Amino acid sequence: MSIAPDRPLLPVIGTGASSPCSSGRAALTCRYRCGDACAHEAPNASSNETFADVMESALSRRSVLRAGAVVGAVAVAGAGLAGSPAAAVGPKGGPSGPGGPAGHHGARTPKGLRFTPVAPNVQDAVVTPPGYDQQVVISWGDPLFRRTPAFDLNQQSAERQKRQFGFNNDFVGVLPLAGRTRLMVVNHEYTSETLMFPGYDPANPTREQVETAWAAHGLSVVAVREDRRTGALEPVVGHRLNRRFHTTSEFELTGPVAGHPLVRTTADPAGRTALGTLNNCSGGLTPWGTWLTAEENINQYFANAATVADPVTAKRLARYGIAGTATERKWERFDDRFDIAKEPNEANRFGWVVEIDPYDPTSTPRKRTALGRFKHEAAQPRITDDGHVAVYMGDDERFDYFYKFVSAKTVRKGSSASARRHNADLLDDGTLYVARFTGDSPAIEIDGTGRLPADGQFDGSGEWIPLVSGRRSFVPGMTAEEVLLFTRLAADIVGATKMDRPEDVEPSPRTGAVYIALTNNSNRGAAGAAGPDEANPRKANKNGHVIELVERRGDAGATRFAWNILLLCGDPADPSTYFGGYAAKDVSPISCPDNLAFDRYGNLWISTDGNALGSHDGLFGVAVEGPERGATRQFLTVPTGAETCGPVIERDRVLVAVQHPGEKDGATATAPASTWPDGAGRVPRPSVVAVWQRSGRSIGM
Ligand code: FEO
Ligand code: CA
Ligand code: CA
Repeated sequence: MSIAPDRPLLPVIGTGASSPCSSGRAALTCRYRCGDACAHEAPNASSNETFADVMESALSRRSVLRAGAVVGAVAVAGAGLAGSPAAAVGPKGGPSGPGGPAGHHGARTPKGLRFTPVAPNVQDAVVTPPGYDQQVVISWGDPLFRRTPAFDLNQQSAERQKRQFGFNNDFVGVLPLAGRTRLMVVNHEYTSETLMFPGYDPANPTREQVETAWAAHGLSVVAVREDRRTGALEPVVGHRLNRRFHTTSEFELTGPVAGHPLVRTTADPAGRTALGTLNNCSGGLTPWGTWLTAEENINQYFANAATVADPVTAKRLARYGIAGTATERKWERFDDRFDIAKEPNEANRFGWVVEIDPYDPTSTPRKRTALGRFKHEAAQPRITDDGHVAVYMGDDERFDYFYKFVSAKTVRKGSSASARRHNADLLDDGTLYVARFTGDSPAIEIDGTGRLPADGQFDGSGEWIPLVSGRRSFVPGMTAEEVLLFTRLAADIVGATKMDRPEDVEPSPRTGAVYIALTNNSNRGAAGAAGPDEANPRKANKNGHVIELVERRGDAGATRFAWNILLLCGDPADPSTYFGGYAAKDVSPISCPDNLAFDRYGNLWISTDGNALGSHDGLFGVAVEGPERGATRQFLTVPTGAETCGPVIERDRVLVAVQHPGEKDGATATAPASTWPDGAGRVPRPSVVAVWQRSGRSIGM
């Protein structure tokens, strides 16, 4: 099967953006998911050098380092990709070279992407290609344990919710178990109270509603059994490994910040035991069989930052977007720890990467402070050439940064008890870096429209700037513990590159190239904000982009890298888009890339969050190698108001988390905007969905 050269451009339907972030998200989603982050000023008010500054200084042969920057970091602006590993995975040439962007016609559709693309649409359904079947694996409120009542909207309680699947599923990971049973791990990022509680009064939530929301946040571990004849998965209720973690579960703080005075509270004077995990967005699975999950928009849960008078503390709170008086959910009325005026350090115990051992039902999850504190979107490990573990991490905020942690110790192979013991503490000691991207084209050619520079690529080189290693800080004026607690402020000082909301990150298991989703940034180039640069080249970037990062010598432990932009997303008829050099008329429109995954053939899969083109969110497969590089094909769309999360691309099955279905402005539990998945008369329920090919053939084959 090949992409028909004469296939008409997939239609783009009318736009209807209504949210503060202008990405097509409902205002309701912005309120509950990220605390209206985009309605406020971006918290990064640092004057760290813009990309244009870096170019200017590099070209004038001055050091790019400003006073106080890290020892040993040297700019490599102007270095091209020739001879770098990027050349091997990138297009064979720019528009001026052979095989350039115009040169892709009539080649075979890559393995794994051989399905009829789903057209943009606004159906209140999961829409898949012809020949594919689907099944809801598990939904909000479904029991995980025996003697747990089935979901009943009108009987919901905190006690029930603690034993049921949580709300707003995001990251999904699948781990092996015996036979046809697998272990599925899922994040529950946030709650949408008006859609969960009939008659909910936002000004006066009840204790039962608040405690139910606490129980609906967090994480689920649930064993699932594969159906022999289809791709369906059935939850194994009562499996011995099933677990729920929620806002009152115990988490251990580990690493350099554990026990520090700034994480001690009235309830935990030792500063080592935090209750709960909040706003867990994406995550990753480690090679040693654990699950990493990322605490993201934690600012919205903490009240009364406006009462803080100490300027140092106030600056730290502001840089993390913790502001104002009452919170949207009013949790501070029911537990003092959500009130900054009463428990000033509680917020410092959130915003971490958390590691969970889902195979040990007695294990306590650990908040790994050595990986820094910010609005963690995801945490994706990759082994370095000398056997250490690198973890790539984005900070999802407009103008925030992209990070990497490299462990001090090497990973021990195998699943023996001693290997597991050794690897259990790997993420407590290492070096945390932040990325600086440098372009190789003159700044004047980056005009903010998305027009390619004369060398035919948005590309260049970059460096990993060390912030802290163990208990040694590289940042002037900050201790190691302060760097880890207030990582954003540390990264400001060393001049990291301000990005367009770094979301998920995923290394290719075939090439090692690392892909970063930048979801959007409508403020890029606005008055007083950072302007376009070669790594974030579009002003008012509504549709986002995807960067391909290639570490020097392909080693995840390197301190230098090459990079290029794989996709500038949007309507392919829009000249500001770019699809890896692939013919735009043969790609699906894509907007706001968010979560990433790879299939077994080396194709990148992208799920989207918000759609500035008016369609529902979707899941897309993209070829990143060979003559079809940039071929972008939509595999499914999700129901009204929903976001596509957690894609898992297996040989015979695709799993997606359908997050916040029905989250449209004005919708409530009694007047829902979606009836997915249960049908008329029922509330929409966030759910994990399995999709497979009816014929039994593999996905995309
Ligand atoms: Fe929870 Fe950045 O998406
Ligand atoms: Ca360039
Ligand atoms: Ca996300």
